[in-house]
Amino acid sequence: MNRATEQLVYLVAAILFIVGLQRLQSPATARSGNAVSGLGMLIAVIATLLSAEILSPSVVLAGLVVGSGVGYWMARTVRMTSMPQMVALLNGFGGAASLLVGGAEFLKSELHAEQIPIDTGITIQLSLFIGAITFTGSLIAWAKLQEVMTGKPIVFPAQKLLSALLVLTVVGLSTYQLMTAESLLWPFYAVCAISLLLGILLVIPIGGADMPVVIALLNSYSGIAAAMTGFVIDNSVLIISGALVGSSGIILSQIMCKAMNRSLANVLFGAFGAAGPKGSAKSAAGLSVRSVTPEDAAIQLAYAQSVVVIPGYGMAVAQAQHAVREIQELIEKRGGEVKYAIHPVAGRMPGHMNVLLAEANVPYDKLREMDDINPEMERCDVAIVIGANDVVNPGARTDQSSPIFGMPIINADYAKSIIVLKRSMAAGFAGIENELFYNPKTSMLFGDAKQSLTKVISEIKQL
Ligand code: TAP
Repeated sequence: MNRATEQLVYLVAAILFIVGLQRLQSPATARSGNAVSGLGMLIAVIATLLSAEILSPSVVLAGLVVGSGVGYWMARTVRMTSMPQMVALLNGFGGAASLLVGGAEFLKSELHAEQIPIDTGITIQLSLFIGAITFTGSLIAWAKLQEVMTGKPIVFPAQKLLSALLVLTVVGLSTYQLMTAESLLWPFYAVCAISLLLGILLVIPIGGADMPVVIALLNSYSGIAAAMTGFVIDNSVLIISGALVGSSGIILSQIMCKAMNRSLANVLFGAFGAAGPKGSAKSAAGLSVRSVTPEDAAIQLAYAQSVVVIPGYGMAVAQAQHAVREIQELIEKRGGEVKYAIHPVAGRMPGHMNVLLAEANVPYDKLREMDDINPEMERCDVAIVIGANDVVNPGARTDQSSPIFGMPIINADYAKSIIVLKRSMAAGFAGIENELFYNPKTSMLFGDAKQSLTKVISEIKQL
C-alpha cells in the first residue's frame, strides 16, 4: 500500500472512531458506537499490516490473534463489578506499549549510531515518561481494586516532595539525553526506571474509592502516551486515536470530580479516606428515625401514582436491580408511574447504575438524569432510595461544614414521602450523617436491599 492510500485509510479509521464516540453518548446507540469504533480499529490495523514498513506481518498477525483471543475471553468472563480493574489493566498495557515502542525507536537509533532529530527525541522521552507512569500507576490501581493490596491511601512524610524531585530529575536527564552528542544509554534507563517508580508513588496515596477517577485519568495518560508514540513512528492514526483517548479521559475525570464537588488535585493529592471523614458534617444526636415494615412500604408503593426510584451503591452491593425492575412492573400494573433518578456519581464507577439497570432490562426511557428529574420531585408521591446515601444527602445544599457541601444531589427530600432501603444507619462513601434519614417524611426499611425488596414484592402481590 502506498503512503497516500495508507493516509486515506487512516483518515477513514479516524472518522469511524469519532462517529463511534459520538454514538456512545446514549445507551440506545452505544452498542453500535462500540462496533463502529471497533471497525475503525480493524481497518487501521489492516492498513498498518499492509504498509510497506512492516517486515514480518506474520508476527503482527499472531499477536492480533492471541490478543483478540485473550481480550474476548476477558470480556466474556469479567464480572460487571470488576470492570474498573479490567479497564485499569487495559490502560496499563497501553502505557507499556508506548514505553516499549518509544524505547525500541531510541535503541534502534543508538544501535545504528543515527542522530535522532530533536522533535523525535522529545516525543520519545515523553512516550517513555508518560507510558511508564501509566503502566505502573495502572497496575497499582488494579491491585487496589482487586484487593491484592490495601485500598486505603498509603502516605509517608515528604511524599509529594519526593515525587516532585523525581519529576525534576526525569526532566533533567531527558534534557541531558537530548542535548548531549555522546551515545549514552544510562540516562535512558534511568528515565524509564524513575518514571516507573513515579507511577507507583502517584497512585498509592489515592483511596480505593477514588480509583475510578484515577482510572479515567490514567486512561487519558495512556492516550497521550500513544499520541506521542504516533509522532515518534510518524503514524497519523495513532496520533488521532491517542488524542481522542487523551481528551475523553480527562473530560470524564473532570465530570466525575465536578459531580463529587472535588477538585482533581484533591482526588490526586488529598488522600481522601486516610484519616476519616474530612469536615464536620452535622451530628444526628437527639434526632429520631422512623422505621417501617415491608408491609407498610408495600402499601405506600402500591397506591402511589408517581414513584421515583433512586438507586445507589447499595443496590450494586445487594445486586437488587432485578427486584427493582419487578417492583416497577408491579406498580405500573396497578396504574402508577415509575421513573429512575440517576446521579452521575451514584455507585462507584461512571454509569454504574445505568449498567446494572440495563442488565435487569429496565427500559432506557425510564432513566432520568439528575437535572431532568429534580424539577419533578415535588410532584412525586414516593421516592424510594435503594442503597443510596451521599447522592441524596440534603446537607450538601445547606451544611457548609460538610465535605460534600456544594455537590449537586437528587432532591429526594422534596418528594411527598420517602422510603430508604439500607441495612443500618451507617454512613456512605463520604463518611457523614444524612439528615434525610431523620426527615419526618422518611421511612427507613432496614435490611439488605434485595431481601427487603423481595418481601415488599410479595406483600404488593397480596394486596
Ligand atoms: P454511598 O453514599 O456510598 O452509600 C451507599 C449506601 O449503601 C451505604 O450507606 C450503605 O448503608 C448502603 N448499602 C450497602 N450495602 C447495602 C445492601 N446490601 N443493601 C442495602 N443497602 C446497602 O452511595 P451513593 O449514594 O451511591 O454515593 C456514591 C458515593 O461514591 C458518592 O459519595 C460519590 O462521590 C462516591 N464515588 C462515586 C464514584 C462514581 S464514578 N460513581 C467514584 C468515586 C467515588 P448500610 O451499610 O447501612 O447498608
